[in-house]
Amino acid sequence: MSLSLSSSNALSFQNQPIRRTPNYSRTTPLCPHFISRQLQVSLPSNEFPISHVKPGAFFKLRQERLDPVTASSAAVEPDTAPAAAPAPFRSKNPQDINVLVVGSTGYIGKFVVKELVKRGFNVIAVARERSGIRGKKSKDETLNELKGANVCFSDVTSLDLLEKSVESLGSRIDVVVSCLASRSGGVKDSWKIDYEATKNSLMAGRNYGALHFVLLSAICVQKPLLEFQRAKLKFEAELIEEAEKDKGFTYSIVRPTAFFKSLGGQVDLVKEGKPYVMFGDGKLCACKPISEPDLASFIADCVLSEDKINKVLPIGGPGKALTPLEQGEMLFRLLGKKPKFLKVPIEIMDFAIGVLDFLVKIFPSLEDAAEFGKIGRYYAAESMLLLDPETGDYSAKKTPSYGKDTLEEFFERVIREGMTGQELGEQTIF
Ligand SMILES: NC(=O)c1ccc[n+]([C@@H]2O[C@H](COP(=O)([O-])OP(=O)(O)OC[C@H]3O[C@@H](n4cnc5c(N)ncnc54)[C@H](OP(=O)(O)O)[C@@H]3O)[C@@H](O)[C@H]2O)c1
Repeated sequence: MSLSLSSSNALSFQNQPIRRTPNYSRTTPLCPHFISRQLQVSLPSNEFPISHVKPGAFFKLRQERLDPVTASSAAVEPDTAPAAAPAPFRSKNPQDINVLVVGSTGYIGKFVVKELVKRGFNVIAVARERSGIRGKKSKDETLNELKGANVCFSDVTSLDLLEKSVESLGSRIDVVVSCLASRSGGVKDSWKIDYEATKNSLMAGRNYGALHFVLLSAICVQKPLLEFQRAKLKFEAELIEEAEKDKGFTYSIVRPTAFFKSLGGQVDLVKEGKPYVMFGDGKLCACKPISEPDLASFIADCVLSEDKINKVLPIGGPGKALTPLEQGEMLFRLLGKKPKFLKVPIEIMDFAIGVLDFLVKIFPSLEDAAEFGKIGRYYAAESMLLLDPETGDYSAKKTPSYGKDTLEEFFERVIREGMTGQELGEQTIF
């Protein structure tokens, strides 16, 4: 694998055609990081192009949900089941469908894992040994959080390592679900994760049989002004291209509106008597926020729903779109306090961004600081709603709604219990 800087200064892949031949061998070792008590295997007698391999010839993950233990105690038994006739994964029972989830430890990813497990899929969750914001979670905490899934500790930033991990699962992958995202939103990290690592998961998945890819993207990519949006869009384009090249392969691109965590940051401050801060008149933007369980349920629907195949799916939560002013008013009402707003002119942000952009030319190390300023500006003024191609305006009406959890219920909960579980990423912007 070689990486190069393209003219747009973005990292890009070169010479990486997706291999169609899995590199299975009789001596496939168990991934030292793959945590599952028992694997049931049948040994392929040779190396086959994936499309020629009968399902029974693949190593097969045992379907029981097992408490994870270290790989050294994994027992390997031969699979004596007769080879079944090949069947597209959509006609199989959920427990026979292997879903590889990358970004499984994120704010949305962990709910996606939970939902897929609840629906009976055989979930393989890829995680880092230190996961969570700033690597706060230990291996045991991660295993506990991803209960019901087979957890595979690997590295999505290395195609080689990821492929080795997937190979050692000894199982064909049916579907890949990516909830990966840069934890910082910084320029290089966005390209590394939202593009490269996500592409690694596509390549590894494809090389081990995946016929469907569900991507958690973001509604804001429809107006790309930020690096993470450009990185996501590049991957989206390549995913679509892959499905165009191979008609047997499909995708669902999920583009949600704002998450609850991005809107709860002022609850404690307002509770303490501080004003609610908003830009302009508080009506510069609006969103239809969606909860983690509702979005996870929508993403899980994408695994099997045929009406979501090869579609880009903008999605918001239930109810009407809310401006920051309306969100603030709701918060004061729930707290029984008289509304008190601090209206900040958006031009202040424009000035700060201008200064940072100038300084970056002298001090390139300020690149991420300038990008964070732009991210803040974007969310202060751009709606997280569908951009209507006919009018060029954001349309609340045309932004589909899904789920049942409302922002009002979320605010009530945060007032009662605080923001635990709703922590923002490393730069505390989103
Ligand atoms: N915030 C919003 O309002 C909003 C709205 C719409 C769409 N979105 C989009 O939704 C997506 C998911 O967001 P989220 O909040 O769930 O993300 P998140 O909590 O930041 O989770 C990111 C996931 O990616 C993994 N990851 C990041 N860097 C990695 C690295 N170097 N190596 C391996 N794994 C890495 C993380 O693993 P670790 O746990 O190991 O770090 C984690 O599993 C993003 O694409 C975002 O743009 C967000």
